[in-house]
Amino acid sequence: MKALIIYESAFGNTEQIAFAIRDTLNLSCQTIALHPDKIQPADLQNYDLIIAGSPTQKFSPLPQIFAFISKLPDGSLKGKNVAAFDTRIDLKKQNNRFLSFMVWLFGYAAEPLARKLKSKRGNLIAPAEGFFVDDTKGPITEGELKRAKEWAENLMIKQNPLR
Ligand SMILES: Cc1cc2nc3c(=O)[nH]c(=O)nc-3n(C[C@H](O)[C@H](O)[C@H](O)COP(=O)(O)O)c2cc1C
Repeated sequence: MKALIIYESAFGNTEQIAFAIRDTLNLSCQTIALHPDKIQPADLQNYDLIIAGSPTQKFSPLPQIFAFISKLPDGSLKGKNVAAFDTRIDLKKQNNRFLSFMVWLFGYAAEPLARKLKSKRGNLIAPAEGFFVDDTKGPITEGELKRAKEWAENLMIKQNPLR
């Protein structure tokens, strides 16, 4: 069983989360984390579990990773397990009602990534997940790296329920 994490990161925080997930998955299955530049759509056929990760910018994933998944041929993730995560700022802490309303309306990056993976017939094995950063350039909020590792452990359980 092999897993692939496709991720983008503007300031390195999503990369740190991607690497924490990779290192945890690597304990039980061969896993690599790559930028969409470094992989061809056809390469995805070599993996059983495909995870997409992006920072949330303007309530959305970064364009390159979203375009990469959007351009995958229809049905190309059939028979594969998929999951998505993002990094985001905890806007509740900002106490800004307008921003909270916008988040309620438009959400974060992981959900559209997860929907896109599903639209290619991927089997979503966990709800889209977000990990908090303290500010635009980070750092990752305390406890979130640990939570990312736990999320990855949970993915492994869902990937191999009889393990
Ligand atoms: C242009 C821009 C727009 C952003 N928009 C949002 C947003 O809509 N919601 C949010 O939670 N965080 C937003 N952020 C904060 C990013 O989520 C944060 O910079 C990111 O998680 C850091 O991850 P990275 O180091 O991998 O880029 C924005 C940041 C930038 C630079």
